[in-house]
Amino acid sequence: MSQQIYISLAMALPFDIDVQHNWHDKQHKKESLMKPKVILTGITTTGTPHLGNYVGAIRPAIEASRKENNQSFYFLADYHALVKNQNPDRFRQSTLELAAAWLALGLDTNRSVFYRQTDIPEIMELTWILMCMTAKGLMNRAHAYKAMAAENAKKRTKDPDKGITMGLYSYPVLMAADILMFKANEVPVGKDQVQHLEMARDIAGKFNHIYGETFVLPKAVTGTDTAVLKGLDGQKMSKSYDNTIPIFVPEKKLRKLIMKIKTNSQPPEEPKDPETCTLFEIFRAFASKDEIAEMRNRYVAGIAWGEMKQILFEMVNNHLKGPRQRYQNLVEDPEHIETVLKEGAQEARAISIPFINEIRKKIGVQVVGG
Ligand code: TRP
Repeated sequence: MSQQIYISLAMALPFDIDVQHNWHDKQHKKESLMKPKVILTGITTTGTPHLGNYVGAIRPAIEASRKENNQSFYFLADYHALVKNQNPDRFRQSTLELAAAWLALGLDTNRSVFYRQTDIPEIMELTWILMCMTAKGLMNRAHAYKAMAAENAKKRTKDPDKGITMGLYSYPVLMAADILMFKANEVPVGKDQVQHLEMARDIAGKFNHIYGETFVLPKAVTGTDTAVLKGLDGQKMSKSYDNTIPIFVPEKKLRKLIMKIKTNSQPPEEPKDPETCTLFEIFRAFASKDEIAEMRNRYVAGIAWGEMKQILFEMVNNHLKGPRQRYQNLVEDPEHIETVLKEGAQEARAISIPFINEIRKKIGVQVVGG
């Protein structure tokens, strides 16, 4: 059963993959382990991924995973999710769904290492070691923590640290461990994560200074602004504004959401400005160059909003039909996902175990068997 799904998944991918040449990809992966650039990114397992996430983060990451010259690591940051999600069933389900989403959207696990953070205990061990290198003052400046503390101050709560756990507070240290463990050079992230990368560099530098060159200093890579999509109400698409279009909603619901996108009240025949239009922006993220040029002309000629919404729905739906089906098949086969993740964990631990031993030696911890 799981083998079957794996094959149909590969065949239905929007990329040119030949399953017969699986061994070749494996070979490629072995070779790429020697290649210089390491790209790593983490996916927090909370929330439902939406079109904004797809265009801004998931799609570019998946495209990068297919480039020849990189060694890429993608992982589910489930211990990060524990800060917010303390419901065991939801915790498990979110991880499963996010894994299914990335696989359904075409992450090539033959060319990248795809794993779950909680399967790599060495990351937790490194987290503590790095905690001891991290200035408390540095963590005081973290945006997420500061925002909560400011909220409490505004509300004049009796306890200024109300609702703030050590998990939230030390979140950037765990993230540094994720990154430093695999000697990542580049970390593709949203702009809100840039500060965390600076902290990771800072912490790595501190360790290197005390114990000698050990960690690679990572760089944040942020997408361009065009990769940010607007949501139903015209503000940035974000779950905090409740204006998102989730990637895997059923076709009917997708249509309904697209029909709900806010437009101005220009009448059908009037020329319209594509550049300020949410519909056009989403269209552009999925269309070819020629389709975009043609649609620009139709805006200038005057296109009715109703018609544009129908065209947009068809465009997005055509792109998502395949992934939606694969996603359904995958979430119904958690054992297959589990197998994929366990394989990824094995590959990741082939790196993390020797590296944590090297680190243990440096700090003066007795290495068992070493
Ligand atoms: N904090 C990141 C986010 O919210 C997720 C994450 C966890 C991450 N560990 C990481 C991203 C390591 C990049 C590298 O998006």
